[in-house]
Amino acid sequence: MVNLNMSKYSIVTMEEVQSTNDYALENISYLDDATVIFTTNQTSGRGRYNRKWVCDNSDNIYMSLILKPKDIKNYPYANLTQYLSVVLCKLLEKEFNLEPSIKWPNDILVDGGKISGILAESYMKNNQIEGIVLGLGLNVNMKAETLSKIDQKAVSLFALTGKTYNAETILTMLLDSFFENYNNFETQGFKYIKDDYIKRCTFLGKTILISENNTKKQYIAQAIDEEGLLTVKDDKNNEYKIITGDVLC
Ligand code: BTN
Repeated sequence: MVNLNMSKYSIVTMEEVQSTNDYALENISYLDDATVIFTTNQTSGRGRYNRKWVCDNSDNIYMSLILKPKDIKNYPYANLTQYLSVVLCKLLEKEFNLEPSIKWPNDILVDGGKISGILAESYMKNNQIEGIVLGLGLNVNMKAETLSKIDQKAVSLFALTGKTYNAETILTMLLDSFFENYNNFETQGFKYIKDDYIKRCTFLGKTILISENNTKKQYIAQAIDEEGLLTVKDDKNNEYKIITGDVLC
């Protein structure tokens, strides 16, 4: 385990861990705010709805950021993954010349393939949130052979650009960008990222499939509201707000 001291955050690098989110949740009480658990070798990574998150030890990013907001009552927890998705999109655009899009609420796609997923979990103590674990997986150097085994179309930076990258260098860029504007997000919430988020939601206006509680239903995606929720219409023109669930296509 190596500790690197940086100004706004510190990274704990682990050679191998079951799941960085699990490790962060198990140790959250003694880990400081803005501690990042990072590995390139995650043996039992979890995605949303307890899906498996694939790792092939090819120098990808598996990280969990611990956050302990001071003013938890006013903290925009519901939009935290959306904030991180915007930060990552901007990085992929600026540093790698890619055109990422966001699939509500926080999957990052490039050329229709998933390159990154985000999983936020809170840790409760005495009915209060003691801390938040914000996990992110980014396929950096994953090869086509592994990508083809993932149960949905998936891509990596290597597959998209033909180049290999140092995962830790990309992680540092991501965290620097995250903390650069984090204060603004903390105080303004979704309002702060609304325009940047919506312009990358390329599914708006299209027919989408939503999976919720094991059922799949077809809707037209209408808009993202002021709180970051997805508004949809069904075939009878009834409007709904989607709070949880997955956009499948
Ligand atoms: C999803 O798209 O379903 C979310 C995927 C989140 C994966 C990351 S990898 C690092 C962290 N540790 C985990 O076990 N999961 C998250």
